[in-house]
Amino acid sequence: MASSPSSSCSCFFFFFFFVFLIHATFLTSIASGDDYQYLHLYLHERNLGAPNGTMVYAVELRRDTPYGNGFGNIIVFDNVLRETADPASLAIGREQGFGVGSSLAQNSGLTMLELVFTAGRYNGSSLSLFGTIRSTGGASERGIVGGSGRFRLARGYVLSRVVGGTNETLIWELDAYILRHHQ
Ligand SMILES: *[C@@H]1O[C@H](CO)[C@@H](O)[C@H](O)[C@H]1NC(C)=O
Ligand SMILES: *[C@@H]1O[C@H](CO)[C@@H](O)[C@H](O)[C@H]1NC(C)=O
Ligand SMILES: *[C@@H]1O[C@H](CO)[C@@H](O)[C@H](O)[C@H]1NC(C)=O
Repeated sequence: MASSPSSSCSCFFFFFFFVFLIHATFLTSIASGDDYQYLHLYLHERNLGAPNGTMVYAVELRRDTPYGNGFGNIIVFDNVLRETADPASLAIGREQGFGVGSSLAQNSGLTMLELVFTAGRYNGSSLSLFGTIRSTGGASERGIVGGSGRFRLARGYVLSRVVGGTNETLIWELDAYILRHHQ
């Protein structure tokens, strides 16, 4: 009991110090002309080999590996971005780019792509992503390395996880955390 007044004092100190830190960080980011943006999207793929697939092999050195991740494979894709996991939901953009099977364990691919927005507030703008997609379960994290239009000079990261699909399709949920520079 005797120590209780002094420990509540230090709690107050840390509380106010913490609030001050959050406030200072916020002011710094406003002052430097950046803001944070969160986008929640769904990626709809038609698989490699399916009729009208939105993913094709440019190089196929290894067959029958998860997500085509065989070492040395090169896959080119132009997938649809939609508002929800429902294939009938509004299309808001495309995911266009390529991935290279870059792991001897054949369980990941290095991707380079653009999320190109074709509707809504960000129509005509794009985000540039670079990073690894893993086929070993859990979310994959990739870096946002730039953008165009309203996303010029963007930075941040995108988390991707599989949330559905059929034998011909795969649906991914994307959470994008974007540090955006004001125009
Ligand atoms: C997907 O499954 C359906 C029936 O379950 C089958 O007719 C079709 O050929 C399969 N497609 C692929 C690409 O395996
Ligand atoms: C593939 O595309 C063609 C031409 O757009 C279309 O007629 C056909 O129904 C499509 N097939 C599938 C399985 O989506
Ligand atoms: C997106 O922008 C293009 C080019 O400005 C325009 O033609 C198109 O109608 C827009 N799409 C939507 C859904 O607003």
